[in-house]
Amino acid sequence: MKNIRNIHERVNLALLKTLKDARKTPTPPKLAASIDYAIFPGGARVRPNLCLSVAEACGEDDFAIAESAAVALEFIHCASLVHDDLPCFDDAELRRGKPTVHRAFGETVAVLAGDSLIILAFENLAKGCENSPQRLIQLIKILSKSSGVPFGICSGQGWESEDKINLSAYHQLKTGSLFVAATCMGAVSTGEDPEPWVELGARIGEAFQVADDLKDVTYSQKLTGKPTGQDIKNSRPSAVAEFGVDGAIKRLQDILSGAIASIPSCPGEARLCDIVRNQAKQLMPSFAADKVL
Ligand code: IPE
Ligand code: IPE
Ligand code: MG
Ligand code: MG
Repeated sequence: MKNIRNIHERVNLALLKTLKDARKTPTPPKLAASIDYAIFPGGARVRPNLCLSVAEACGEDDFAIAESAAVALEFIHCASLVHDDLPCFDDAELRRGKPTVHRAFGETVAVLAGDSLIILAFENLAKGCENSPQRLIQLIKILSKSSGVPFGICSGQGWESEDKINLSAYHQLKTGSLFVAATCMGAVSTGEDPEPWVELGARIGEAFQVADDLKDVTYSQKLTGKPTGQDIKNSRPSAVAEFGVDGAIKRLQDILSGAIASIPSCPGEARLCDIVRNQAKQLMPSFAADKVL
């Protein structure tokens, strides 16, 4: 638990420092405020925490690299949420218990805040990797692949405009891709091969989206901090629509049961297993907590 809290603090400090550095040049005040608003206070910071957890498990030799990778992941994630909440996507009024960025600052500023965060993610990554161009190249490839088309978030969101969607592919692109990026970027930050880390990220990512679908129908807005019942309202494919609540819980168990087994052997393997086990507990909806692995 101590380790998780330290990683969380590391992530928040790195995010704060990046935003502070970006403020050194005057920025249109509403745009600057909207960017801060999209990042703080944060959500669970699951992706950057996972990235730093893997980097620590692999044996970090340069803290700036892994931290810039973690910040980049969270910036891309937050940008995707700002855009996802817009009227032209999910038209959501609440995110993390407060008005969405476009409700607070207007649509024009919200579009720009999302765009700015995506660019800042890559700019900050380049700064953190100034002494390791080889790792930077790999990190950029992974992050851009997981964010864009055809393998990333843009493709995932794009499927919502089609008549027929494959649920697993949709989840993998929309949500899973950034989790795969998180484990792989953690490994690459330390000079390790990313390939053995793909399965862990894919499993946590898919489990995460199934859990989100379950919470969308079984939790209140007060508990999630964002509107619930959205999948039915927006006719989105979801694990609950496809398998029912019990079927989705079973699917969640199946996906997670392989996650711990997939952790590659590394210096911090035991501690990483604890972290992933703890993450799995948090993913299971509270009414099904006894069904955890
Ligand atoms: C929400 O992600 C969007 C999905 C991919 C389901 P998170 O649940 O990680 O959002 P925050 O960052 O904790 O608010
Ligand atoms: C958001 O998916 C995933 C993104 C890539 C932004 P959802 O629309 O299902 O997530 P919430 O419910 O708004 O967090
Ligand atoms: Mg959406
Ligand atoms: Mg949404």
